[in-house]
Amino acid sequence: MSVEKTYQKMKAKLSRIVPDFELRYKAELAYEINRLKKEKNAVILGHNYMEPALFHSIPDYTGDSLELSRRAAKADKDIIVFCGVRFMAETAKILSPQKTVLLPSEKAGCSLAESITAKDVRNLRKRFPGVPVVTYVNTYADVKAESDICCTSSNAAAVVESLGTDTIIFIPDEYMAKNVANETGKHVIFPTQISMVRHESTTDLDYEIIGWHGKCEVHEKFTVEDILNVRKQFPDVVILAHPECSPEVVDASDFSGGTSAMIKYVEQTSAYHYLLLTECAMGDNVAAENRDKEMLRLCSVRCPHMNEITLEDTVKALRHNQYVIDVPEEIRVKAAQSVERMIAIG
Ligand code: 13P
Ligand code: SF4
Repeated sequence: MSVEKTYQKMKAKLSRIVPDFELRYKAELAYEINRLKKEKNAVILGHNYMEPALFHSIPDYTGDSLELSRRAAKADKDIIVFCGVRFMAETAKILSPQKTVLLPSEKAGCSLAESITAKDVRNLRKRFPGVPVVTYVNTYADVKAESDICCTSSNAAAVVESLGTDTIIFIPDEYMAKNVANETGKHVIFPTQISMVRHESTTDLDYEIIGWHGKCEVHEKFTVEDILNVRKQFPDVVILAHPECSPEVVDASDFSGGTSAMIKYVEQTSAYHYLLLTECAMGDNVAAENRDKEMLRLCSVRCPHMNEITLEDTVKALRHNQYVIDVPEEIRVKAAQSVERMIAIG
């Protein structure tokens, strides 16, 4: 495809969203990336939070964390370029160790992944012996390696219920733990709120989910007041909240689900106004695909980590083979068990 064709394809989707001069410039970058992708036998995975010009031009597959993990496991190219954040690229490496996995920016982290270490998990296990550990995929490989099973925003409740135990440790997202507790009818506590008394067995615990105080720096910013203000101005609005939002925000919304579940919900319902309580770029991407619907956005909240992934840096990633994601083999093998157990559940 020529630069002009790349531009026309992007314009067809994004003319109402991205200024024309920016589209022309970005089409040149996208063309070069797609050329390099073929030359290097690479596949590009793009998370739903990628900025609209990138999202609509270079990924071979787009999706939420779970869908992209599944894609990474099936990748049949030599190189996986992950347009997302580090924990996602690590998950790709965990599942496809024989491939080269590239993350276009070294700065694309995640506040949730930063909130807990492998040592923290070992300490939780010591304090709550025998209690299985469910770990949100927004964590680094060494934390996954200390866990029994992973989950994403789209399967958290199903993973918790699949264990069939009275008590679980759910880390590291405090709000997601509370939201899962509400969904599954369980009672959640946070270790700092209780004494250090060692329990001989888990049967005498009066709580069912043991959480951790991690938060997403984007989703924690949404408030019930935001929702009330938007509903006052747009009484017909349908409000969707990511499960990383507080339980109060989830409760005041009309729907809660992971990024792809939110996208599907907008596609399959027929309201005119929607408010997506999630990363802003996704609002642009959903608006581009649903031209008959209006996406309201509270756009002071762009994820600074997702924002690090640009077309410019993706060109460099393919040209210079950077930044290579490596996971030490002993950690990878253990982390793979947790991720594969999750994938088997769905
Ligand atoms: P999803 O798993 O819903 O795609 O979310 C990933 C994420 O980082 C949300 O902030
Ligand atoms: Fe992490 Fe939040 Fe950014 Fe998702 S939006 S990558 S959870 S900081």
